[in-house]
Amino acid sequence: MAMSENTKPGLFVGLLVVVCVVITVSIIVTRDPVPQPEPLFSQPYEYVCQDVTGSGPRCVKVVRTDDSNGTSLNVCKLTCGERRLIWPYPVSVEGMGTEMSRFIPINVMYGDISSHSTQIQDFIKENWEAFKGNLEMIHPDYVTNGVGEWTTSDTYNKFKVYVNFIIKTGVSTISRTTIESYSLNISSTAERSTVTIEAITYFGARHGLETFSQLLNYDAENNCLQMINSLGRIYDEPFFRHRGLSLDTSRNYIPVKSIKKTIDAMAANKLNYFHWHITDTHSFPFKMESWPQMHEYGAYSPRQVYSHKDVSEIVRYGNVRGVKVYPELDSPAHIGNGWQWGPTQELGTLAVCVNQEPWQSYCVEPPCGQLNIANPRIYDVLASVYKELADAFSPVQYFHFGGDEVSIDCWNSSAEIRDWMSAKYDNVTKDSYFDEWANFHSRSMEIFENVTGITDVKGILWTSSLTEAGMAAKYLDPEKFIIQIWTYQNNNDSLGDVEDIASKGFELIITNADAWYLDCGVGAWVGNGFNWCSPYKPWQTVYDNNPLLMVSPEYRDKIIGGEAALWTEQADAQTLDSKLWPRGAALAERLWSNPNGTWADAELRMILHRQRLVERGIAAERLQPQWCFENEGLCYIL
Ligand SMILES: *[C@@H]1O[C@H](CO)[C@@H](O)[C@H](O)[C@H]1NC(C)=O
Ligand SMILES: *[C@@H]1O[C@H](CO)[C@@H](O)[C@H](O)[C@H]1NC(C)=O
Ligand SMILES: *[C@@H]1O[C@H](CO)[C@@H](O)[C@H](O)[C@H]1NC(C)=O
Ligand SMILES: *[C@@H]1O[C@H](CO)[C@@H](O)[C@H](O)[C@H]1NC(C)=O
Ligand SMILES: *[C@@H]1O[C@H](CO)[C@@H](O)[C@H](O)[C@H]1NC(C)=O
Ligand SMILES: *[C@@H]1O[C@H](CO)[C@@H](O)[C@H](O)[C@H]1NC(C)=O
Ligand SMILES: *[C@@H]1O[C@H](CO)[C@@H](O)[C@H](O)[C@H]1NC(C)=O
Repeated sequence: MAMSENTKPGLFVGLLVVVCVVITVSIIVTRDPVPQPEPLFSQPYEYVCQDVTGSGPRCVKVVRTDDSNGTSLNVCKLTCGERRLIWPYPVSVEGMGTEMSRFIPINVMYGDISSHSTQIQDFIKENWEAFKGNLEMIHPDYVTNGVGEWTTSDTYNKFKVYVNFIIKTGVSTISRTTIESYSLNISSTAERSTVTIEAITYFGARHGLETFSQLLNYDAENNCLQMINSLGRIYDEPFFRHRGLSLDTSRNYIPVKSIKKTIDAMAANKLNYFHWHITDTHSFPFKMESWPQMHEYGAYSPRQVYSHKDVSEIVRYGNVRGVKVYPELDSPAHIGNGWQWGPTQELGTLAVCVNQEPWQSYCVEPPCGQLNIANPRIYDVLASVYKELADAFSPVQYFHFGGDEVSIDCWNSSAEIRDWMSAKYDNVTKDSYFDEWANFHSRSMEIFENVTGITDVKGILWTSSLTEAGMAAKYLDPEKFIIQIWTYQNNNDSLGDVEDIASKGFELIITNADAWYLDCGVGAWVGNGFNWCSPYKPWQTVYDNNPLLMVSPEYRDKIIGGEAALWTEQADAQTLDSKLWPRGAALAERLWSNPNGTWADAELRMILHRQRLVERGIAAERLQPQWCFENEGLCYIL
């Protein structure tokens, strides 16, 4: 007994040793040498820059005639013609050289920034890290390994690139009046290139750095980066001041990480407004501190929520990248799940028709739900929601109140609302309901101002029955509200009259569904066939959609810009990138440059820019076979 007790530990240790040896051996056995890639073969091609068709210089792929290395595709792309690199295209480009500087990311530095406030210095540093990250990602091994080994050649790994920022003001948040212009130049010696970016604000300088990041690419011959090393001057500023994307996180939840990636891609395109349609009837993912019942009842699950911290982190992340993040609380329709708990707190019914069937009778898509306008306690709850959203999204200058697709039949199906209406109106008609709908918006706006103390906020509302021909000014105050147009470009959709709205003095954000709805063109999700706004809006349609054409010339100054919208009935994090990009880039050039030309003039740059987004980890939709990328100008039908 004793003996066996003595032997047991020994046996145990022995076993351990054996096990360890076996493990060690197996580690040694299974740890294959790092797989060496097959050596790359060289191809017999080079590229020459020629104007073959008379429509401008292009990179033409030819078979090499001697043993010299010739011009690579990437060098050709950097040097062949000026109008090919930068997206969106700048106002002016002067004196762009064709010589390269070759370098590795570690040797790119910024000059002295100590004269700026610590806040601006912090922004520059954080944005710089993002920029350096993008440089690393250009290495072709980065995608598979998450790292790329750069050249060991002394010539290239000693070369320095300095970026100097000259920023004239300390402006540190984006507002309606933020000046986004910048200028940029480049000069070089044998040892260094100097890039100078001058701007009125940090946000202009950030755009300038983005432009610089588009003047370089990978040099496969030398395994380093190469950049255009002389540039007289780029001057640039946006055509429209409001250039945005609207994303719905209620139909389906979008994780914080994916929202940040979307902001990265927006920054790469100089888009500056992220319109966060954070709640809707389907779910209420904003985590409320005053009324936790909202997300307890309304979120899809405890993990599918956005805390105040998440939101303010996204707001800060956007600001550093030149993107203002602003919220939408759609109401009085497009609410429902998250508002069912009123009776449990003795607040009465806050929302009517919630998840009501048959949905076709009370709303435009399942599930239904609208605020109970007969219950004054909804304004107490709204006050809390406004306060918390305003805090999380601080600083707030735009607040989107939604205001679309109210169903009179839903309201009128509630006995409580019918009685309340009868007490107010002798003869309750559809118009009486419209009056109450409009009152709801004025009162909500006043409560927003009262509870947040923000008096210069601009409310935004979607076009709706309230903005139909001749009605907008009757129901809404143009000093308080901006109207976001989702009505079709052809202007004969029953939902609104853009010209009338503009003529009454409202500012407009254009999001016409026939060009700038990015969810169109898939199978239906209720019933069969295609979804309601089919067909798919290709990048060409997005690009050619000129907002100015929606009103007559005298009202064009009312159009402050536009947004593309992604409603997420049929999208989530899995498909987000390919739905948004590169079509969001087509939108960006329309809004930044408002080019006179059509998509056909932009095609080569678009293909290149899509490639750039992919290199940065954005899963942008492919537009053409790679053959077209290598054989520029030969994929045409004109
Ligand atoms: C580049 O721009 C800076 C500031 O705008 C200017 O001071 C400098 O002279 C310019 N350099 C060249 C080489 O044009
Ligand atoms: C041509 O390219 C190869 C690598 O592809 C490189 O080793 C060689 O130095 C280059 N030759 C010249 C003349 O640049
Ligand atoms: C109520 O209003 C409707 C629509 O305006 C009208 O047709 C009807 O005559 C009115 N009824 C009364 C009792 O005033
Ligand atoms: C509201 O519903 C009642 C019946 O419950 C109906 O008589 C009335 O016409 C409806 N009003 C409107 C404006 O739809
Ligand atoms: C907003 O505050 C003003 C001033 O205190 C008050 O008169 C008004 O009733 C408030 N509005 C609402 C809708 O509560
Ligand atoms: C709207 O106008 C366009 C062009 O004039 C026309 O083709 C289309 O049929 C009209 N649509 C409707 C719904 O009236
Ligand atoms: C478009 O054309 C107008 C008028 O010819 C011109 O002033 C403007 O600079 C052009 N815009 C672009 C982006 O080329």
